[in-house]
Amino acid sequence: MNDTREDLITQTVINRLQTTVDPRLRRISEAVVRHLHALVREVEPTQEEWRQAVDFLTRTGRMCSDTRQEFILLSDTLGISMLVDAVNHRYPLGATETTVLGPFYVEGPQSFDQGADISGGMSGVPMLVRGSVAAADGTPLAGAILDVWHADDQGFYDVQHGVDRRAGRGRLQTDAEGRFACWSVRPVSYPIPHDGPVGRMLEAQGRHPYRPAHVHFMIAAPGFETLVTHLFISGDPYLTSDAVFGVKDSIIVDLIDHPAGAAPDGRELAVPFVELAFDFRLAPVHARA
Ligand code: BEZ
Ligand code: FE
Repeated sequence: MNDTREDLITQTVINRLQTTVDPRLRRISEAVVRHLHALVREVEPTQEEWRQAVDFLTRTGRMCSDTRQEFILLSDTLGISMLVDAVNHRYPLGATETTVLGPFYVEGPQSFDQGADISGGMSGVPMLVRGSVAAADGTPLAGAILDVWHADDQGFYDVQHGVDRRAGRGRLQTDAEGRFACWSVRPVSYPIPHDGPVGRMLEAQGRHPYRPAHVHFMIAAPGFETLVTHLFISGDPYLTSDAVFGVKDSIIVDLIDHPAGAAPDGRELAVPFVELAFDFRLAPVHARA
């Protein structure tokens, strides 16, 4: 069958895909064709609109480099990254909820001792980050590897400053009771990179590019699914309009304000500081609710 009339072309193309050897790839290819053909039937783009769409994707590709992934930003800002995250993390009740990794994670961060300062000279209000890591049933997890990273009080990650110096990121290991603690600085809300086609798209859609203030975590322990998540700071004006749809109520945390003086970990501070505390719960490997 080779009927290319408007109502039959979708099936014609799908028939042609039956030679795809890999069954998963065949299924994905069929779905791509079905959904894109349905999009065209729904929108009925003009030839000029179709040319603009191709041009948009071309510019998106041209914006990509070793340090910039415009297609992931596109996926993030259309909610696709969070949907992929959701279908892959149907965890049992009790496990901490996941969210997007984002583009600012750096592999193999520097390891720090408990209570160390990981700010690397970043500017901002001192922030004590502390808590625990446990299994979803509450059993403490000793020796879990916890990577933490965040923006500074200007809304930039270290890697965006264009220098090699690492700041506001590090790796900790939980102690015998599953606890962790480090010092850094309080991050603020910031815009995702918006000087490319995705930024133009957000403008055209009347959307802002901001993410509410947050701290990223990646937590790994043998026998458990690696948890990729953030803690969002309550009260942030962008919590209900995160440009990448990453916010979940269960990972919004109240920052505790402290006056200058003795911190809960015994450190003496000459200036007021804040505390971000959270108890993480990991899902067992292959756990799917
Ligand atoms: C981030 O939180 O680091 C991030 C996530 C998605 C897109 C841009 C930034
Ligand atoms: Fe971030």
